[in-house]
Order: sequence, then C-alpha cells, then structure tokens
Amino acid sequence: MVIPMTGRIYDGERGRLMIIRAAKLRDMPACAEIVNAWIDATSWMPRVHSPEEVAEFYRDTVFERFEVFVAEREEQIAGMIALAPDNTVSALYVHDAYRGQGVGKALLDHARNEATGPVQLWTFAANRGAQAFYEREGFKEVRRTDGDNEEHLPDILYSCQRDSAGMTP
Ligand SMILES: CC(C)(COP(=O)(O)OP(=O)(O)OC[C@H]1O[C@@H](n2cnc3c(N)ncnc32)[C@H](O)[C@@H]1OP(=O)(O)O)[C@@H](O)C(=O)NCCC(=O)NCCS
Repeated sequence: MVIPMTGRIYDGERGRLMIIRAAKLRDMPACAEIVNAWIDATSWMPRVHSPEEVAEFYRDTVFERFEVFVAEREEQIAGMIALAPDNTVSALYVHDAYRGQGVGKALLDHARNEATGPVQLWTFAANRGAQAFYEREGFKEVRRTDGDNEEHLPDILYSCQRDSAGMTP
C-alpha cells in the first residue's frame, strides 16, 4: 500500500521514497523512452510511429498541451501520467522495473486529485493488465470501439466517478 505523506511524497511499503511532481521538459526523453520500451515489449502493440516520432509527440503535444506528472524513485523517472484539460488521462506508463510497486496507483491518485471532474481514459482491449488495474481503481467501462484509433485496435473507454481518497461524489 502507498501512504500519502504530503501531496507529493509517498513512502512505499518497501520503505523507498517516491516523489510525484509536475514534469519538466527535461523529463520528456525519459518519459518517451518508457513508452517506446513498452511498445517494443508488447507483442500485440503495432509500432505506428518511430521512437523519434513518439519523442516528438511527447515534446510538442503531450508536454505542451497536457498536465504531465512523473514519479521519481531512486532519482530515476519510474513512471508518468498525462492529464488533458477535459480530464482524460491520455497516457499512464510505468517503467517495467517499477511496475507492481504502487507507482501507477500513486500517479493515478495524483491525477485524480488534480482533475477538475471525473477522470476518463481509453485503453486497448488487448491490455488486460491495465484493465485489471483500472477496474480495481474504481473505473467502469463506458463504451468500446472496434479500432477507431491509429493502431486499429479495439479499445475501451473507462470513466471513474471516484476521487483518489476513494470517495464517490
Ligand atoms: C498498468 C500500469 C500503469 C499499472 O501501474 P503499476 O505501477 O504497475 O500498478 P500498481 O503497482 O500501482 O498496481 C498494481 C496492481 O494493479 C494490477 N495490475 C497492474 N498491472 C498489471 C498487469 N500487467 N497484470 C495484472 N494486473 C496488473 C494488479 O492488480 C496490482 O495489484 P497488487 O498491487 O495487489 O499486486 C503499469 O503496469 C504499466 O505501465 N503497464 C504498461 C503500460 C500500460 O499498459 N499503460 C496503460 C495504458 S492504458
């Protein structure tokens, strides 16, 4: 379990310090690298953009238009989340060395606190691990598409009415 210490600092059950903070542009390469590594390691995920194009997208769009928060552990970027102005989580990626240790939950909790209303997000239907994570975090399926995205993969829209403290408004 992750215990919020201040708004920004969490102490994981293994006693390691985790800091959740607003991202700076200098964090962009590490964030894009986490995304690129996940694409390359995920057999069902087609690569529709080169690693350089992914980095450009993160620099010119994600870091420009969205609120981005990063989790830092051991002075490394352990994960990132991007929140669009309409409260859509447009990206949530944890470095594979730090998955299953509460980093994703801490980032999601932080974004839910920062959001101005219920948070929603899209995930690919093939991403069963992410679905288990979101459903455990109180997200409910809203609708599906047959692949109305660049990757042409079926995807699912999830919405959460709950804030990070687990309260339903
Ligand atoms: C999905 C993701 C963001 C979750 O972050 P995380 O830091 O690994 O998750 P946490 O440690 O906070 O929570 C883990 C819990 O979520 C569930 N979970 C997370 N990833 C899972 C996976 N791959 N398979 C099954 N369950 C998973 C488990 O129930 C786990 O519960 P536990 O803590 O009781 O073991 C992270 O695994 C990730 O970056 N995955 C690859 C990229 C991705 O799929 N991003 C989402 C795109 S929509």
